[in-house]
Amino acid sequence: MHNMNNVKLLEFPQLGDERGHLVVVESKIDIPFNIERVFYIYGSKQNVIRGEHANRETEFVLINVSGASKVKIKDGEGNEAIFCLNRPHTGIYLPAMVWKEMYDFSEDSVLLVLASQHYNAEEYLRSYKEYTDAILGK
Ligand code: TYD
Repeated sequence: MHNMNNVKLLEFPQLGDERGHLVVVESKIDIPFNIERVFYIYGSKQNVIRGEHANRETEFVLINVSGASKVKIKDGEGNEAIFCLNRPHTGIYLPAMVWKEMYDFSEDSVLLVLASQHYNAEEYLRSYKEYTDAILGK
């Protein structure tokens, strides 16, 4: 299974007390890379599908810090997995070269994304064919 085995759910330390919750995510401790970029997605309607791309180089961690969404991962060889992100202290690690689709956003969904690299449009594979060709080394 190409790269699919490296997808993992991550549980982050919770340091909450009577004042509320606090979750910590540190580079190279709680996640396997240095965080070079952070973005977040909110206000996506439930029927929207986001992502629909793979990255040649960038690794990501996705955390629904509010609400819920789903992420479907494909490995380009017929394997797929769906993860439901609905806890602010749980993330999913996605290595480079997996196809990802984010969908089923709740109205209050805030999907925080930590990335291992700065944005570079060149390393995005934005069609499934381009992705499977790259997997097959075409
Ligand atoms: P896009 O990759 O389509 O978002 P998603 O993966 O959630 O579907 O990005 C939307 C737009 O934002 C697109 O024009 C590229 C731009 N963008 C940046 O400039 N920097 C970034 O870090 C990201 C994630 C997107």
